[in-house]
Amino acid sequence: MKKSTLILAASLLICGAFGLGFKAKAQTKPVTSEKFPAGFLWGSATAAYQVEGGIQNNWSAAGLDAGNEINHWERYEEDFDQAAAMGQKMYRFSIEWARVEPQPGQFDQAAIDHYRQILKALDRRGIQPMVTLYHFTLPQWFVERGGWEKAENIVHFKRFVRRIATELKDDVYYWNTVNEPMVYAFQSYNIGVWPPFKQDINLAMRVVQHLLLAHTEAYHAVHEIDPFAKVGFAKNITVLEPNWPWNPLDQIMTMIQNYLFNEAFWNAIETGQFNLSFPGLVPIKAAFNPRLKNSIDFIGVNYYTRYLVNSSGKTLTRPEVSLTELDWEIYPQGLYRALMLANTHAQKLRVPIIITENGLADAEDRIRAPFLVQHLHQVWQAIQEGVPVQGYLHWSLLDNFEWAEAYEAKFGLMDRDRKWRESARLYQQIIKDNGLSEQMLTEYFKPDVFQLIDKIDKSHKIPSGD
Ligand code: FCB
Repeated sequence: MKKSTLILAASLLICGAFGLGFKAKAQTKPVTSEKFPAGFLWGSATAAYQVEGGIQNNWSAAGLDAGNEINHWERYEEDFDQAAAMGQKMYRFSIEWARVEPQPGQFDQAAIDHYRQILKALDRRGIQPMVTLYHFTLPQWFVERGGWEKAENIVHFKRFVRRIATELKDDVYYWNTVNEPMVYAFQSYNIGVWPPFKQDINLAMRVVQHLLLAHTEAYHAVHEIDPFAKVGFAKNITVLEPNWPWNPLDQIMTMIQNYLFNEAFWNAIETGQFNLSFPGLVPIKAAFNPRLKNSIDFIGVNYYTRYLVNSSGKTLTRPEVSLTELDWEIYPQGLYRALMLANTHAQKLRVPIIITENGLADAEDRIRAPFLVQHLHQVWQAIQEGVPVQGYLHWSLLDNFEWAEAYEAKFGLMDRDRKWRESARLYQQIIKDNGLSEQMLTEYFKPDVFQLIDKIDKSHKIPSGD
């Protein structure tokens, strides 16, 4: 067996032991109230293309035009009034690269100034911003040059990041370089449901490699401009388990997917090297990159759900479980497990954790309240065990354009008319109390609290991928 294969086998075993192995705590009703640490960063998150309106980028060019349904670009002041009324302390949003740099090297100063106004509006309300530099959407000119498929294109991203950091450094402390690199690579290059709709796992892995470099360059670019900035990325963690727990093939496929999806990006940051060699994949061997090693100041965790993995690597939803409107399993204990996994990296890298996304599609707000309380209970549990979680950002402040599902999936604490869903009031109370009251824990842990809700018909929404 080659050395690299041996190392990979060993890391798979390790990730099997430490990644998947984190046992969930029994989901019993807690008995007292649960306070969060003083200064906990309660908030919410959005992304430019999902809320701003009026953006021309590679998604609109591909026929997936978000239009101007939400118009946060013009209504941000009133949106922040609402966030402030809920008591939110942090707001995560992204800068739309296509808006700011419509042609290579040509920046739109008015757009940059507008983002500065957005930051000032947050500051006036005492809300700390977290700025994402790349959240799934790209300028069409960048895509026409090969996008993330080509390493030589990273220089364009670096130029954009330098400009934004130079312009906005006085108003931003927390930066996210990239959002969910693995989700993007899989959706756009493996499953092929997002632009550019390709289905090539090897290309997907190359894109991941380039996103890792893009992160590295952005990390250093921001630090050169502001040495005190906190720079990280938002990593989706999906809990993966073997479909048949006793089937070794299902176990192996789960370990591989867990490594690829949940671990590989962080391991690369820890070691300064991105090496992959799996049967059936073109191996990736990158030289040690000292700039990559430890290039992170906080760990961003996006958590939504759990899947089962079968022997052919297909992900399945567990039967007979509660589901959101997008058919994502509601599995609050998964957030605890995700935090425990993130914590192994947080300890090695000596950085804190912020939950940069968690939420659900629930138009009628039938289950958002128990969802919120039960997930936060898991966060509290992890904090009790020493996991350095500093904040929780709910996805999302308001209903928005949910990628291939467009406007049908409703993730907002508010709807598009800025009307609060009932659970926004609960979130307001949680923030006010800085924790979960005994009454909330009693009410939202009743059996069958996750009643059946309607499902969104996605069959006609997703592009064919060819
Ligand atoms: C995450 C994305 C975010 C949103 C939520 C529901 O994967 O980062 O933009 O679509 O899912």
